[in-house]
Amino acid sequence: MSIWLDSVDLKKFPKLEEDFKCDVVIIGGGITGISTAYYLSKKGFKVCILEKNLFGHKTTGNTTGKVTSQHNLFYDYLYKTFGFNFAKDYFEANEHAINDIENIVKENNIECDFERKASYVFTQDNKYIQKFKDEFSALKHINPNATYEHTIDIPLNAIAGIKFPNQAQINSVKYINGLLTILEKNGVKLYENSKVEDISSVSDGYKVSTSSNNITCKYVCITTRYPFINFPGFHFLKMYQSTAYAISIDTNLPVLEDMFISFESPTISLRYTYYNNKKIPIIAGFDHKTGKQTNSEDAYLFLEQIAKKVYPDYKIISKWSTEDCVSVDKLPYIGEFSTFKPNLYMATGFKKWGMTTSNIAANILCDKICGKENKYSYLFNSKRFNPLKNYKETGNMIKESSESLVFNKFKIKNFDINNVPKNSGKVLKSDGKIIRIYKDENEKVYAVKPICSHLGCLLTWNQTLKTWDCPCHGSRFDFMGNCIYGPSNEGLKKYNL
Ligand SMILES: Cc1cc2nc3c(=O)[nH]c(=O)nc-3n(C[C@H](O)[C@H](O)[C@H](O)COP(=O)(O)OP(=O)(O)OC[C@H]3O[C@@H](n4cnc5c(N)ncnc54)[C@H](O)[C@@H]3O)c2cc1C
Ligand code: FES
Repeated sequence: MSIWLDSVDLKKFPKLEEDFKCDVVIIGGGITGISTAYYLSKKGFKVCILEKNLFGHKTTGNTTGKVTSQHNLFYDYLYKTFGFNFAKDYFEANEHAINDIENIVKENNIECDFERKASYVFTQDNKYIQKFKDEFSALKHINPNATYEHTIDIPLNAIAGIKFPNQAQINSVKYINGLLTILEKNGVKLYENSKVEDISSVSDGYKVSTSSNNITCKYVCITTRYPFINFPGFHFLKMYQSTAYAISIDTNLPVLEDMFISFESPTISLRYTYYNNKKIPIIAGFDHKTGKQTNSEDAYLFLEQIAKKVYPDYKIISKWSTEDCVSVDKLPYIGEFSTFKPNLYMATGFKKWGMTTSNIAANILCDKICGKENKYSYLFNSKRFNPLKNYKETGNMIKESSESLVFNKFKIKNFDINNVPKNSGKVLKSDGKIIRIYKDENEKVYAVKPICSHLGCLLTWNQTLKTWDCPCHGSRFDFMGNCIYGPSNEGLKKYNL
C-alpha cells in the first residue's frame, strides 16, 4: 500500500441505491473528478460523483505527489513542436494550478503537507548535456526563474540539471480527503462501489447507469483516467499507459529537502513526505509501458539501489506501483469526449503530471459547463487527431496491439498444469482454448480467459504484482480476473478446471 493511503483514514461513502436527476454526473473519484466537483459545486451546480471502487485508491492514491510545472524536460519539445506561445501558456497553466491548489489548501485549512519546494531535473550522462542546454534556452523567455545547474547536491553523480524554484509537494490523499469534506458541505452526492456501466443519450441529456440504478443529468464528465468507453472517442488509438514504482524509506540521515527527477531511463524521482511526524524519503521511477515488464522485482531492486546510494542506512516502509495515461503527442486530452456527444466531457493523458493537470482539467471542464471561455483549453483540445501523425509512436502501438491480438496467441504452448510452478502465472492452451493459470502458494489454481476484456489483446503475467497486464492499452487484472485498472470496465471470464 502507498504511504499516502497508509497515512490517511479516507472518508467512506455509500453505494448508489437510488435513481435521481442532477445537473452533472462525474464518473471517477480520483483527484480529477473530485477537483471538478469542487469547482462546479461552488458555482451552484447539483453534482454527483460515482466511483467504481473507493475514492482516491487508484493513481491518485499511489502518485509521487509533486505539484510542479517542471514536467521533466518538456519545454524545448513544446516550443519546437507547437511554438513559443503554446509553450509559455502550458507553463502558465501549470503555475496557475500550483497557486490554485495552494489557495484551496489555505482557504479551507486542508492539512495535506502542502509545501513549496524547488524542483530539479538532472542527468548523470554527458550525452544528454546538449538536451539540457536546449531546454534551458527554450525556458529563457518562458520561465525566467529557471536556472541551469552545473552541480546538484545529491549523491547520484548528477552532472547537469535545471531548477524550477517555488514548486510544491503534497500528500494527495490528505488533499482529496479535505476536498471530500467540502463537497459534502456543498451538497455533492458521493457514491463508492458504484461502477458506471453505460452512458446513454436521453431527450434532455444523459442517463448514467450502474448495474442497479440510473441518474439523469444534462452534463457528464468522464474522469476515470482512461475513458472506459471506446467510441466515438477512439482514445485507444491515441494513448498508452505507463507503470512506475515507488518505495518509502526510513532513515536517520538528513533527507534531501527538494524534489528531483532524472531525465534518463530508468527514471529516478526523489522527494520526502511525513510519516508518524518524521520526514521520510520517497524514491520512485523505473517507468515502462504497462504490460511490457513482466518482472517488477527488477524495479524495486533498482529503487533500493538508489536508496542505498542516497540513504545508506535505509529501511523500507512501503512499496507500491501505479500507472498513468500517455498520449502519443505527450499532451493531455481535456474537453469534449466527441463532436457527436454534446455536454459529455473527459480529462485524460496526464503523463504522470496529474497533480497540476487535474486542477487545470477541473477548471476547463467547469468553464465549459458554465459556457465560459478558458484561456488554456486550446492546449489540451480533446478533439485533435494530429497525434496520429506521430508515425513512430502510433506505429509502435499498432505493432504491439497486432502482435498481442494475433501473433502471440499462436505461440502459446499446449497445456500441462504441472508445468506451472507454485506462486506464478502462465498462459497455456487446452483443447484449443487459451487459459491463464495462476497457482498460489498452496497450489490452488485460478483459471481465467487471458484475453483482455477491453479490445481482446493477450495479457502478460506480472510475477511481482501477481496481475495480468495488457500490453495494448494498459488494463490490469488481479489473478482472480477482477479488473483493477481500466480502460477495461469488466473482469475476465473465469474457468472452473
Ligand atoms: C508512479 C506515478 C507517479 C506519479 N507522480 C506524480 C507526481 O509526482 N506529480 C504529478 O503531478 N503527477 C504524478 N503522477 C500522475 C498523477 O498521479 C495522475 O495523473 C493523477 O493521480 C490521475 O488522477 P485521476 O483522478 O485522473 O485518475 P485516478 O486517480 O486513477 O482516478 C480515476 C478513478 O476513476 C474510477 N473509475 C474507473 N472506471 C470507472 C467506472 N466505470 N465507474 C466509476 N468509476 C470509475 C477509478 O476507480 C478511479 O478511482 C504520477 C503517476 C504515476 C503512475
Ligand atoms: S487494454 Fe485495450 S485491449 Fe487490453
